[in-house]
Amino acid sequence: MFDAEKFVEKAVKEVRDKVKGKAVIATSGGVDSTVAAKIGSMALGDRMVAIYVDTGYMRKGEGNKVKKLVEDMGIKLRYVDASREFYSALRGVTDPEQKRKIIGEKFIRVFEREAKEEGAEYLIQGTIAPDWIESGGGLRDTIKSHHNVGGLPSDIGLEIVEPLRDLYKDEVRKVAHALKLEVAEKQPFPGPGLAVRIIGEATEEKAKVIREACHIVEEEIEKAVEEKKMSKPWQYFAVLLPVKTVGVHGDRRAYGYTIAIRSVESVDAMTADFSHIPYEVLDRISTRITNELNEVNRIVYDITNKPPGTVEWE
Ligand code: XMP
Repeated sequence: MFDAEKFVEKAVKEVRDKVKGKAVIATSGGVDSTVAAKIGSMALGDRMVAIYVDTGYMRKGEGNKVKKLVEDMGIKLRYVDASREFYSALRGVTDPEQKRKIIGEKFIRVFEREAKEEGAEYLIQGTIAPDWIESGGGLRDTIKSHHNVGGLPSDIGLEIVEPLRDLYKDEVRKVAHALKLEVAEKQPFPGPGLAVRIIGEATEEKAKVIREACHIVEEEIEKAVEEKKMSKPWQYFAVLLPVKTVGVHGDRRAYGYTIAIRSVESVDAMTADFSHIPYEVLDRISTRITNELNEVNRIVYDITNKPPGTVEWE
């Protein structure tokens, strides 16, 4: 049986033993990085600063939420808006692995720069077991270069400390509960952010569309959960496809993008089943997205399990 309290004790000691100077942590507001930040701050106190990088592919309102979360934990925050840098690094790039690598590398470079300004020598990361297993860390093929793992350049100027390296998602949640962190039930969000939910080139314009679409999916599903129309899925979001189809808007011909809705049930992200969302909820999501986003005129629902699909489309 996994003992969350014992784990925390051991992880705090490990971080304290490893980190001899100042450390920074990449905080995204997700469960993994928040748990790692808490453990880091328990181990190092003011010797650790959280850095939040807005890559331009974050969820709606995420920056402000993270600010509040980190400051409430009593951790110092360095807030960096690097969206311009990421948009230009991804210009013209369509291959999923290349996108992941570019984002991972850019992220580390931005970090290196910001960490240097903080005078840090160590980087604490919330990498968990599925991140490195599926990134080709074991005997398996590289399925995806998970952000902060496969995308890491070898010449990074910071020593990496990964206190959650051996944990699976359900165990991280148990640790979050043991630490009384409100993010414990927050759905996972991929490191490369909304860029992997835009199939093909992840332009600034498309980022705006998928940010709104994901927000609508979250709002409608959470509302339906509150109204007890369904149970809360493990993860739920939208994907913007590079497919345009003919439709009608009022009495005019429309030619717009397709959005896929993805919602899955899982325990550890290694396998997943598509969620059985009530039609009524899918209907509301579809109507809202097509009404609120002019660029979109078709919505489909993804009924693929993992395997053979993965949770994210890229
Ligand atoms: P896949 O798409 O590989 O996703 O079935 C499994 C889980 O991991 C999340 N995901 C990521 N998490 N960095 C992360 O920290 C990443 O690069 C990344 N890619 C996918 C995904 O949202 C799902 O919960």
